Amino acid sequence: MTVTDTRPVHTAGSPDEPWWRQAVIYQVYPRSFADSDGDGIGDLPGITTHLSHLAELGVDALWLSPFYRSPQADGGYDVADYRDVDPLFGTLADFDALVARAHELRLRVLVDLVPNHTSDEHAWFRAALAAAPSSPERARYVFRDGRGPRGDEAPNNWRSTFGGPAWERTTSPDGTPGQWYLHLFDARQPDLDWSNPQVRAEFESVLRFWLDRGVDGFRVDVAHGLVKAAGLPDWDGPATLAEERDHLAAVASGGASVSGDGLVGGGLSAAQRVADAPTVVDAGTGEPVTGAGHHGPAWDQDGVHEVYRSWRAVLDAYPGERVLVAEAWVEPLSRLARYVRPDEMHQAFNFPYLTAGWAPSTLRRLIAASYAANDAVGAPTTWVLSNHDVVRHASRFGLADPTHRPNGIGARDEQPDATLGLRRARAASLLTLALPGSAYLYQGEELGLPEHTSLDDELRQDPTFRRTKGEQLGRDGCRIPLPWAADAPGLGFSPTGAAWLPQPPEFAPLALDRQRDVPGSTYELYRAALRLRREHALGTGGLTWLPGYPDEVLAFSVRDVVVVANFGTAPVDGPEGARPLLASPDVSASPTAEAGTVPGASTVWFIR
Ligand code: GLC
Repeated sequence: MTVTDTRPVHTAGSPDEPWWRQAVIYQVYPRSFADSDGDGIGDLPGITTHLSHLAELGVDALWLSPFYRSPQADGGYDVADYRDVDPLFGTLADFDALVARAHELRLRVLVDLVPNHTSDEHAWFRAALAAAPSSPERARYVFRDGRGPRGDEAPNNWRSTFGGPAWERTTSPDGTPGQWYLHLFDARQPDLDWSNPQVRAEFESVLRFWLDRGVDGFRVDVAHGLVKAAGLPDWDGPATLAEERDHLAAVASGGASVSGDGLVGGGLSAAQRVADAPTVVDAGTGEPVTGAGHHGPAWDQDGVHEVYRSWRAVLDAYPGERVLVAEAWVEPLSRLARYVRPDEMHQAFNFPYLTAGWAPSTLRRLIAASYAANDAVGAPTTWVLSNHDVVRHASRFGLADPTHRPNGIGARDEQPDATLGLRRARAASLLTLALPGSAYLYQGEELGLPEHTSLDDELRQDPTFRRTKGEQLGRDGCRIPLPWAADAPGLGFSPTGAAWLPQPPEFAPLALDRQRDVPGSTYELYRAALRLRREHALGTGGLTWLPGYPDEVLAFSVRDVVVVANFGTAPVDGPEGARPLLASPDVSASPTAEAGTVPGASTVWFIR
């Protein structure tokens, strides 16, 4: 599928567009960013001290994963009090100090909002357990009687995203088995009932609480899950993203019986099937799909959009450009774009891009489809390669199949090729940072950090590991404390050297102090990319493919920059008469990039 159509796939905007339409946003996972008090768990004062790192790197904003009061059954995505900081991470005063310092450094601050479920230790859930069936206390959650004569079968067949059933049976105060409650995630994360006006009012109040404290926006957790189909009907399709992915793979290879779920697979025409990886397209819209979407009655229900319209009104009443970002695992892209219609959220994570892997033809289609879907609703497209829920891309891309996305990698699994993975990761990051729109970085990717791929099972904390009885290793391997200083105890993460998860030996040479001001380092590559992205206003640029390159090359122009991303192994020529501006391989190690060619597994930015 070489490029022949050279009409722009996205047209340029003005460099003065609102910040969020072109922002680079850095995700901080507070537990693992920097520890100030020596207990081995990162905290808010630790983040504040290191904000200068983010300013120096050149990002526009940071997004903080949850730091609220929580029993930490799911790394804080189980919130017990939405209006307080967990003592593990500090105090509200520490939070205020963080925001003040960030704003001084011209960094915006987004916080994570977790509206789909609370912790089982939230006051509402405790009250619900203590109250009777059909009580107003229970009506804030999804309590149901069980099926079967004794009510000992779950109310429906839904399964938890983390494995096992999505229902837990309660025990009544008199010790007899009681009603069941729904939890799309861990049993310690009961789902709220969003048809209840009290739930809606409470979250609008929570939004105001943080807006009043000066936050610039919210990343909305599980934004596609809040509203469930009426009657909670059974669902026999894939329940987890791993199952979605396997389903798609079977569809693509022609092995699956394709039911009415809207996928075109085994019958792919020659044009639909591509050489580097089979691309599956949505039968209704023709858009590429990669298994980044949950399906069924628990997800992406139309009623959810009303919630975001009301939140948008809350944010719009505040001064400044405050934003809502959807974490919505929804496909195809046009369906995802419904979350960012003009009166809803501002951005949605582009998970189809993240899940496409190292696959040029799929990426080419996805990039075009992403712009088509978002441009149609006037929203910026976002780009992301890593976060706290997926294997780091420096490791994913070092697997024999670089489109594979295991849920964690353990010592008994295929070990990624670290050199190849990092080389490809740098190329992919340079591609990503050239794409118009907004980009998300996950802490540590600017250091080229790999996944921890040999963590002891006893240390694993992700509930997925337990709920799948070890079949899925889970996400701990991408959540390892950051290495700041190669020779300091605990690599400078904590003053005592303590770390809640051990850092693998590969982290030391990648510590920030080993890369800062070192030409060719991954850190300096990111820094240069962010500086040039700003100088050339790439974030608001248009995108036009350049013809004449082989299938395994993505070549396009954005403003005065030409980007050539070579996924193949043979070098290709850069555009004629253009001068290299930035190259993903260490240029001292790959002088060919200087000569105007693009080596395999590399991205080069050229200037005309
Ligand atoms: C989101 C978060 C993830 C969390 C889940 C349940 O997907 O990113 O870390 O486990 O929601 O809140």
